[in-house]
Amino acid sequence: MRPVVIAHRGARSLAPENTLAAARKAFELGADLWETDVGVSKDGFLILMHDDSLARTTDAPARYPGAEPWTFTEFELEKLRALDAGSWFHETDPFGEVAAGHVREDYRGERIPTVREALLLTKELGWRVNLELKRQPPPMAGFPILERTLELVREVGLGPEAVVFSSFDLELMRRGRRLAPEFRYQAVLGFHRDRPIDWDAARDFDELNPRAALAPPERVRELAQAGKRVYPWTVNDPEEALRYFEAGAAGVFTDYPQRIVPLLR
Ligand code: G3P
Ligand code: MG
Repeated sequence: MRPVVIAHRGARSLAPENTLAAARKAFELGADLWETDVGVSKDGFLILMHDDSLARTTDAPARYPGAEPWTFTEFELEKLRALDAGSWFHETDPFGEVAAGHVREDYRGERIPTVREALLLTKELGWRVNLELKRQPPPMAGFPILERTLELVREVGLGPEAVVFSSFDLELMRRGRRLAPEFRYQAVLGFHRDRPIDWDAARDFDELNPRAALAPPERVRELAQAGKRVYPWTVNDPEEALRYFEAGAAGVFTDYPQRIVPLLR
């Protein structure tokens, strides 16, 4: 089977990560699916957010100056929705693609999406999404994020052909297998960049998403030969992607679908 290209947080080199614009951009570029990070607001609404703090990817510091360190779980949805989640991309140009002239769109005023919106967009496009369930910072650490996300996925009417779940929290993924066995659950591995991956801890998973720097192609080859589907993150260099594909990786997560998609055409 042809490996898949997964747009990491959307096409985040060309649009602000974890926004609907980044998802649409990844779709336009022909990515097979997009990956996004699931968080929860203080009042229990599921949203897309990667960092614990809103400071890097929104204007929260300017808008709510007294709320340092701007942990997203300390904000109600209404306050999160008032934020600008796009201007930072033009201001900081995180991948240098604005300066390179590769970004023609204006993303100022982009909003933090709800997971519902993300699912509806995925459905509208007839596309697929990898929902990475994050550990939630206080005060929402105990929030039933898996159960609520599953509820929402079903409510929107998406099934296992369109949604796959992943998490660093392997226990959460095992719970998913029990609660909703029709879906796929992937083990994200390599949380600490300087610690070797404990592969044994994930031996009951068929699908593994390891940090690429801790999972060289030789290792991926062994795992693939043992029947695992392996999706390293984050692979931005086309030559490196080709080495992984040649080794039998089932796909890669990339910030640059515009570079990796053409390799598979
Ligand atoms: O799911 C793969 C990858 O997204 C995990 O790392 O920190 O980018 O969410 P992170
Ligand atoms: Mg992620």
